[in-house]
Amino acid sequence: MLHPVSQNTSVFYVGIDDKTIDLFESQYPVPNGVSYNAYVIQDEKIAVMDTVDPRATAQWLENLTEALGEKTPDYLVISHMEPDHAGSICALTERYPEMTLVGSAKALAMLPNFCRSAPQNPILAVKEGDTLSLGAHTLHFVMAPMVHWPEVMVTYEETEKILFSADAFGKFSALDTDEPWTDEARRYFINIVGKYGMPVQTLLKKAAKLDIQTICPLHGPILTGDLTPYVEKYQIWSSYTPEEKGVLVAYASIHGNTAEGAAYLAEQLRSLGETVTVLDLARCDVADAVQQAFRYDRTVLAAASYDGGVFLPMEEFLIHLQAKAFQNRTIALVENGSWAPSAAKKMQSYLDTMKNLTVLEPVVSIRSAVKAEDETQLAALAKTIHEA
Ligand SMILES: Cc1cc2nc3c(=O)[nH]c(=O)nc-3n(C[C@H](O)[C@H](O)[C@H](O)COP(=O)(O)O)c2cc1C
Ligand SMILES: [Fe+2]
Ligand SMILES: [Fe+2]
Repeated sequence: MLHPVSQNTSVFYVGIDDKTIDLFESQYPVPNGVSYNAYVIQDEKIAVMDTVDPRATAQWLENLTEALGEKTPDYLVISHMEPDHAGSICALTERYPEMTLVGSAKALAMLPNFCRSAPQNPILAVKEGDTLSLGAHTLHFVMAPMVHWPEVMVTYEETEKILFSADAFGKFSALDTDEPWTDEARRYFINIVGKYGMPVQTLLKKAAKLDIQTICPLHGPILTGDLTPYVEKYQIWSSYTPEEKGVLVAYASIHGNTAEGAAYLAEQLRSLGETVTVLDLARCDVADAVQQAFRYDRTVLAAASYDGGVFLPMEEFLIHLQAKAFQNRTIALVENGSWAPSAAKKMQSYLDTMKNLTVLEPVVSIRSAVKAEDETQLAALAKTIHEA
């Protein structure tokens, strides 16, 4: 829905809520949809700030017509070439062939490859520290390579003190969703940008030097008021620091025995006063499991042995953790097997590839059903986790 981004502003939101997409980036369930944000700055010169996913081009062009009236945009500022934002550039350049395309040299080099026929619009390649005056507004360009892709830049508008932050500070869910910011912003950040902690830290250092009153991201709500809580979360997430004391118990169980052991362990941990989240990896969203592992300081991996390895939902989880540079946490292992338990060894082989993990001793190894002696060991493991 079209609206000004704040009071007395000439910056308008022209983005789209997509509530029919099944999986964002073909992998993340988004039960409340996702927004592709784009903005228009109305001044002597008019700048369109990014476009939207090709799923929404027609609706977006209508929004734009409503915002522009009879006017023609002078600039399209491209912060990121990923199709969820750049996917309507080709259509926009067909409509406005005189509009100048503004982006990093890398973005402008990538652009022709994304269009069936390359746009012939004028281009303006900008680099770190370059500015562009629109009249009363001045855009400052800040390079943010690998804050998702190599060509990414963010834009700071000095008069209204707005940071157009590209994928940073984004969140899943359509804009009219009533939910707290943190959980879906964490699932978004850890899974999408999680691997690029260092580049995000670099961007946060640059942003700290700017007087920012509003953050206009490419997904999720526009952030205003006290921005400190959002920046603090980004500091924690991008530095791979645990956010909360608590335990994720993630299990992968074929016939339910390991699940029973995991539930028993969780109960013991709760009785010690721990905050515990239990997830069945065979059934939950793996991206949710990943974000929970990043949220807490401790994770229990409990899994059945499977063909000399580990039951595959656990292996998939470990591959995801590895891909997102999971580190700086404490881990406990529980395995199950009926003839030659192999799960713990396999899980350990993944953990060995990750940085700064403490794996607690001993591993609890269950043979098929959970018996009284297994419960004794699981209770002891709960104590070890509690004291870690
Ligand atoms: C396809 C398949 C492969 C298995 N491979 C192994 C194995 O390599 N080693 C082993 O000790 N048990 C293996 N098992 C047995 C299970 O790991 C064992 O029964 C365990 O208790 C299952 O725990 P659950 O009830 O949590 O699924 C396998 C089971 C299945 C169904
Ligand atoms: Fe992106
Ligand atoms: Fe995006």
